[in-house]
Amino acid sequence: MNKPMAMNQKNVREEIENLRKEIRRHDYLYYVKSAPEISDRKYDELYRKLQKLEEENPQFADQNSPTRRVSGEPLKEFDTVRHTEPMLSLDNTYNRQDIEEWDKRVRKRVNVSDGYEIEEKIDGVGISLAYINGRLDYAATRGNGIQGDDITRNIKTQKVIPLVLRGRKHPSFMEVRGEMFMTLSELKRVNKDRVKRGKSAFSNPRNTCAGTLKLLDPSVVAQRKMKAFFYSCGAWEGLELPETQSRMLELFSEWGLPVNEERYVCPALKDVFDVCEKLERERDKRDYEIDGAVIKVNSLGEQRQLGATVKSPRWAVAYKFKAKKEVTVLKDIEFSVGRTGVITPTAHLEPVKIGGVVISKATLHNFDQVRKLGVSRGDSVEVERGGDVIPKILGVIKKPENSTLVEPPQNCPSCESAIRKDPGGVYYRCLNSRCPAQVVQKIIHYASVGAMDIQGLGESVAEQLYEKNMVKDISDLYALDKDDLEKLELFGEKRARNLIDAIQMSKRKSLADFLFGLGIPNIGKHTAGILAEKYPDVRSLMDTPCEELEKINEIGPVVAQSIRDFFSDPGNRKTVTEILKSGAGFSGVKVGNKLKGKRFVFTGALKKYNRREAKERVDSAGGRVTSSVSSSTDFVVAGESPGSKLKKARELGVRVISEEDFTDIVGEGA
Ligand code: IVH
Repeated sequence: MNKPMAMNQKNVREEIENLRKEIRRHDYLYYVKSAPEISDRKYDELYRKLQKLEEENPQFADQNSPTRRVSGEPLKEFDTVRHTEPMLSLDNTYNRQDIEEWDKRVRKRVNVSDGYEIEEKIDGVGISLAYINGRLDYAATRGNGIQGDDITRNIKTQKVIPLVLRGRKHPSFMEVRGEMFMTLSELKRVNKDRVKRGKSAFSNPRNTCAGTLKLLDPSVVAQRKMKAFFYSCGAWEGLELPETQSRMLELFSEWGLPVNEERYVCPALKDVFDVCEKLERERDKRDYEIDGAVIKVNSLGEQRQLGATVKSPRWAVAYKFKAKKEVTVLKDIEFSVGRTGVITPTAHLEPVKIGGVVISKATLHNFDQVRKLGVSRGDSVEVERGGDVIPKILGVIKKPENSTLVEPPQNCPSCESAIRKDPGGVYYRCLNSRCPAQVVQKIIHYASVGAMDIQGLGESVAEQLYEKNMVKDISDLYALDKDDLEKLELFGEKRARNLIDAIQMSKRKSLADFLFGLGIPNIGKHTAGILAEKYPDVRSLMDTPCEELEKINEIGPVVAQSIRDFFSDPGNRKTVTEILKSGAGFSGVKVGNKLKGKRFVFTGALKKYNRREAKERVDSAGGRVTSSVSSSTDFVVAGESPGSKLKKARELGVRVISEEDFTDIVGEGA
């Protein structure tokens, strides 16, 4: 009688083990390799099946089961863990000469027989994971290098961290060292969600990652997706150490530990410089922050021979990239007025070189930000220049005694009328719709590429047209003639004619472009497109009540009210009427429904269209263009040198078509 029972138990145990293995494999494929094999739904099915079996059979519980990533009540405080081998820091170098000197010191002691290995220096949080026979035992922060905090429960919530290593042969005990970090896109996602809930946004990924790892409630940690790269080891027992750093990282990868693929082995010092420079040039392309490169002696035997000083190893050195942050003095704050009347404070700085570029201005966004940063004129402030965005002020470093507080202005810096803070919002606004600064900005926006695309009508022309009383409203553009334009600075006959032609051409733009160009608050390109699909012309939209607008998919009460407010203003109605009187139709481009509901993604260069034109084709046939491929994409149009989207499409089985196929679908004509 006992036997079938025992068999049954054995079967259940096997099934549980198999499910765990299967789920681990999918976690690895999804989180480490970014190449999932099954749908989320299928994954959830496996997960629930395992959960159920574990509940029914508590005798087979395992703390490293995939179902145990988030568990238990919040902690009161963290325990302290002593690292078996200390976690050291790195010496810094800043130029070729520093690296050459370091190389000389290294070569005095060893031959560098396997060359140097170079990795990115991730600006994250150093962590140490202890594995016993391939199973995660505990995780710790770096702390003071000798001992850190036990953050095992937080680390376990992160699916990039394997709880059980892949493969069979592992050290009996091992400390793997690496960097935990948050990607810039994840920080954006987390912040969007926080702002929605009325909380303040986090300012940088490193502090957010460090703060998250130190949260006492693992269930909150689980909601933020962090990443990690492992690059070194502390203790290593019971298995032969590989010969080189690069082989060790390959082993890590085979075991399912995430490692950075950006790594290079260089036999000669010259190549080391080249790689460091390449990594520095490419730093802004990454979705994570790096602040330098790490150069390591590749042979682990030589690493051991070189050893370490109390603070840092002799076998590795950091090459620090040029700072993206510098400290300088905030000289003054200027207020500018945007097209919707928003007053934006801009900081004027004592010019300072950041990453090779001289910076003398930085944005302060709004007055809540000014207050939050606590900036005053005369302060020493830390300024950051990231990617190609406008430099921003990170915080105050020092306040001299005579610094003067920055207050929002009482009156509009352009027209001097009273300004008001948005009820419940953060912006101060000039409410005078005839305010010169606003009108000039409106002209610039109307003429911009995404709107009416009037080439030759930029900032300086718009300012002159306004100052010379030729254009006081966008509708006045259509009354301009060549003689008027020739009065402008640097305008000859040809330039004047070209601009007149461009203005006349704009009458043939689509209704969507026109609605966007009007600069209605809260109406971006996408919403303008939705409205243009619903209404045959601007007149029918002008008199639509709020309730009707709200019935449109994707139009909420705020947007509906914005449209209503805009078209209730007699000045705005007059503008539109005048433009229509000039002969513009904006209803010629009828939205077809040939491609209704079809989603397109473009990859690679097209020969016949630029991206905007291709999008217009899809839009006007009722389709949608999205930027990334998913299973709901209908067509991926592959041009010349297509990127990773093509690969993704193939993986997901999405239909891939050529530019010629695309032309056949949308039709040749305009
Ligand atoms: S190797 C013995 N490699 O930079 C030290 N460190 O100031 C071994 N870091 O504490 C460190 N990326 O937290 C190494 N690819 C990389 C790294 C890296 C970031 C951090 C690490 C270390 C700090 C040194």
